Amino acid sequence: MTVPQRVSPFVLATLLCAVLGLVVVTSAQEDDRASVGPAQARRAATLIVARCAVCHTTDLISQQRLPEDRWIATVEKMVHWGADLTKEDMALVLHYLTARNHPGAPDHMPTIEQELAMSQGSPEQSAAADGPLTGVPARGAGLFAHNCQACHGEGAAGGVGPRLAHNMILKNEGAFWETVLHGRGPMPAWGAVLSHQDIADIHAWLATR
Ligand code: HEC
Ligand code: HEC
Repeated sequence: MTVPQRVSPFVLATLLCAVLGLVVVTSAQEDDRASVGPAQARRAATLIVARCAVCHTTDLISQQRLPEDRWIATVEKMVHWGADLTKEDMALVLHYLTARNHPGAPDHMPTIEQELAMSQGSPEQSAAADGPLTGVPARGAGLFAHNCQACHGEGAAGGVGPRLAHNMILKNEGAFWETVLHGRGPMPAWGAVLSHQDIADIHAWLATR
């Protein structure tokens, strides 16, 4: 490329910086997209099913193709309207949605529920990881309020999800763990969000209801 003499070195330097700046920004964005690891993606998808699908389907979310600033505005609006996310959870959900549902993403993608189902480990794997755990009811109360109450109602009396207080499933620990770890139907899987101790604590609290 020949440079006309009239262009001052200052203008050239500015142009060069702008071009380099663009390159840096683009590769930073790509790093960002690439850096949603499988475990993070699983946790983010679980949070969306558990905390966002309380009000509308995840398809409403999955259909969007938005740049990062619009995702930030949307998720902030949803949290303002009542989506129950801590600051860290919000950052993770934003990271996941910005990487997954950006303007260049394909028209057809698996639903968030399908992605979650594909990424779950087998029940045998998690059963093997289960040690005998002693649940702490006092801890379970808070964990329930934060994670389960929106669907299972205050005091586990029932809501969108069935009544869990005095539910027979509490006596069938195998079925309880299977349902909570891996989800069932509209019930999200919790294996990527809650520790086994958390689930044991919730179980212990439910048993006191
Ligand atoms: C307290 C209820 C509630 C929760 C929780 C909620 N939303 Fe929404 N959301 C709405 C309502 C109401 C609308 C607008 C009405 C409609 O289009 O159905 C909406 C619309 C949307 C839209 C469509 C675009 C727009 O701005 O209208 C997106 C995307 C969205 N929500 C994402 C999310 C995400 C992501 C979460 C979880 C972090 C979430 N929502 C949690 C109530 C909620
Ligand atoms: C987004 C809503 C939602 C959230 C949040 C939710 N659940 Fe559920 N849950 C459901 C629905 C709906 C069902 C019924 C599933 C079915 O019809 O197969 C269910 C079923 C269950 C069952 C089986 C009950 C039975 O009678 O077989 C258990 C146990 C359970 N949930 C525990 C939990 C726990 C523990 C949490 C919190 C860590 C939780 N759920 C959070 C919606 C939810």
